[in-house]
Amino acid sequence: MNRIHHCYCQSALWKRRVESELMPWALGGTTLEGPALEIGPGPGVTTNYLRTRVPSLTVLENDPGLAEKLAAKFRNTSVQVLEGDATSMPFESGTFRTVFCFTMLHHVSSPSLQDRVLAEALRVLAPGGTFLGTDSRTSFLMKLFHCFDTMVIVDPATLPQRLRRAGFTNEHIELSDGAFRFRATRSQKLH
Ligand SMILES: C[S@@+](CC[C@H](N)C(=O)[O-])C[C@H]1O[C@@H](n2cnc3c(N)ncnc32)[C@H](O)[C@@H]1O
Repeated sequence: MNRIHHCYCQSALWKRRVESELMPWALGGTTLEGPALEIGPGPGVTTNYLRTRVPSLTVLENDPGLAEKLAAKFRNTSVQVLEGDATSMPFESGTFRTVFCFTMLHHVSSPSLQDRVLAEALRVLAPGGTFLGTDSRTSFLMKLFHCFDTMVIVDPATLPQRLRRAGFTNEHIELSDGAFRFRATRSQKLH
């Protein structure tokens, strides 16, 4: 993330938006089951919201500096922080009941790498597990925030077919101003 973006992701403004709008919307109607994994936690605003609501939370962040700060921030909690890449996750297949992914996919540098994240989310989920999250839609502000930064916007119209191609079922996408939420299931049947 560039400096402006990094500051925004840990600002009071973002924290308020995450806690009052994004997370209640993203998690609405879902029974949160653990063990759970959050990919791309960044400075940990979403992690902090999740940690008291989900039994057993692990987070995977590929930026070494952020991973180190997260480990310090959540040292006295039950959150397990790992540095690693969501395109190649360091977990056994079927480890988690839930995988979360908030405002992260557009930071993955190509559609094919994003598809690897989807495939990995499926692999590390147990049968019947849920993959859910949010991401940003394209806008002038988004472009401004991502100057000299990775921004590969996910088109919510094509996400259902990408999720299906990865092996998910029951995919569900919903749009709001500036964002979309998604949810999909790993089928009970093992592939
Ligand atoms: C915009 S931040 C979102 C942070 C947080 N989820 C939130 O909504 O406040 C996206 C994060 O995803 C991380 N990220 C990007 N690609 C990743 C990958 N392949 N594996 C793990 N984390 C990744 C970035 O380093 C960044 O910290």
